[in-house]
Order: sequence, then structure tokens, then C-alpha cells
Amino acid sequence: MVDDHARIDYLNAKRSVDERAFARSVRERLLAALPERPTVFEAGAGTGVTVPRLLEWGVEAGRYRGVERAEALVEHARTARAAELEAAGYDPVETDRGFRVEELSVAFEAGDALAAVDGVDAGLDLLVAQAFMDVVAVEPAVAAFERALSPGGLAYFPITFDAGTIFQPSHPADDAVERAYHRAIDARESRDSRAGRRLLDLLGRADGDLLAVGASDWVVRPRDGSYPADEALFLSCILDFVADALAGGEVAEFDDWIETRRDQLAAGELSYVAHQYDLLYRAP
Ligand SMILES: C[S@@+](CC[C@H](N)C(=O)[O-])C[C@H]1O[C@@H](n2cnc3c(N)ncnc32)[C@H](O)[C@@H]1O
Repeated sequence: MVDDHARIDYLNAKRSVDERAFARSVRERLLAALPERPTVFEAGAGTGVTVPRLLEWGVEAGRYRGVERAEALVEHARTARAAELEAAGYDPVETDRGFRVEELSVAFEAGDALAAVDGVDAGLDLLVAQAFMDVVAVEPAVAAFERALSPGGLAYFPITFDAGTIFQPSHPADDAVERAYHRAIDARESRDSRAGRRLLDLLGRADGDLLAVGASDWVVRPRDGSYPADEALFLSCILDFVADALAGGEVAEFDDWIETRRDQLAAGELSYVAHQYDLLYRAP
């Protein structure tokens, strides 16, 4: 089954929501600790949006390797990110698995990021796993990342979901829907609706340093009856995820709930918040 989050339209639409959400203090700590010419690995690279972000941070040299399970996303990342950088005035040169831009080599690969990172022996300066830790088993993933980090290497986990799903205006079935949605996430193999707190706890007890933690909640709200960028599409994907998860009929009022939410979205009246953390860890 294709992961329901591995959709190009959804990931493109979520970009402006992520940008608003990132915890600035965690980002600043990351940039202060990042070496020059870093070797970067990204797990679950999606549409490759970390690459323009690295350049925006001033990382114009080093190596980036993004591993993503969905092949269509890998193809898209290679072409869409090269085109984006070209439009921004860079001169990306195509390579086997991606491109070279300034002195940064960029490769996007299809595959299992956890298997791929296992082949990296203590060689990474930066591991990025964005909106990823709730779709894998947290403990083995962290163990694999720890083995791959160089001494003092950094692991950055932005947009890590942590069991908060809030829609407004209020509806009588909200609490039942939220609980059933999180239960349905947890019932799926390797999914964890509480990945954020799990990671906070695990990294807090690990041998390295948990350098920074901040909330990075998604907050989407209409302004004058409409949504910025593609955020109406983003919300409609979120409602689809909830509807898929609750298709088994466990919440009696669900039909009314979802119809009301879709009407509110169409009318530009629906707001949504998801609770998440950004975490930054430094290996010993
Ligand atoms: C919620 S999306 C986030 C994508 C991207 N990091 C972003 O924030 O835009 C999670 C991504 O992880 C990918 N994924 C899930 N498990 C994976 C694995 N074991 N190896 C590689 N990719 C994986 C999915 O295909 C999906 O694209």
C-alpha cells in the first residue's frame, strides 16, 4: 500500500504550513552547531524540500543524500527541486541521482531509509527526519541513526507529531473522533501517534545531548473566508486521512462530523491544529 502521506499534492500543500510551524529556537541551535561542508542524510525525504532549505541556511558545500520509499516522490524531488533552484538563480547540474548545486552534491534515492542508514558507519554530520518519526518504529530508528552519526553529529527531527488533533469550530463528536483517529494510527504497523513524546523521552536518556526542543504545531486558519497558499487542499487531505482511519464506523456521529467539517472547509470556516515537536540531538 502506498503510504497515504506520500502524495505529491499533499506534501506540496503542507510546505507553507511547515514553514510557519518550525521552532525557530531549535533551528538557530542547529545552524550554530552545523559544520562547514556537512555530510547530510535525510530519512523519508518526500519531495526533497530540505535541499532548498539547506541552501537558504547557507549550506552551499558538502553532500546531501535523501532516501524515500515512494519512487514517484524521488523522481519528483530530482526534477522539481532542480527547477526550483534554477528559478531562484542557482545553476544546478544534473547528476546520476540528482544534481550538483554550488559545491553541494544532492542525491535522491528510492528505498528504505532505515536499511540505507544502516550502511553508513559513523559518517554523518547531520541526519534529518522531518514528519517521519510517527511513521516508523521510534526506538530502532533512533538506534540506526545513532550508529550512523559521526562523533558530535547532529540529528534534527522537525515536525514530529504528538497526538494532538484539534478542529474548530467545536463539534460534539470532536473528542471521540480525536481518540479514534489516534487509536487507528497506532493500530497501523510501525505508526506511533505519540512519536514526539516518545522521542523526547528516548533522546533525553541517550548518551548524547538533547540540544533543543520546541513545539512546532501546525496551525491552519482561514482569513476572510479563504486559506493561504494551498492550505485548503492540505486541510482536505487531512480530512481524508481522518475519514480513511475512521471508515470502520467506530464513532457513531462520524458521518455528521465529517460532513460538517467538509462544509466548513468549503465555506472557509474550518481551523485545524496538530501538536508536534522539533527536536535536535547531538551524538556523543
Ligand atoms: C509525512 S511524509 C514526510 C515527507 C517529508 N519529510 C516532508 O516533511 O515533507 C513521510 C514520508 O516518509 C516516507 N517513508 C515512510 N517510511 C519510510 C522508510 N522506511 N524509508 C523511506 N521513506 C519512508 C513516506 O513515503 C513519506 O513520503
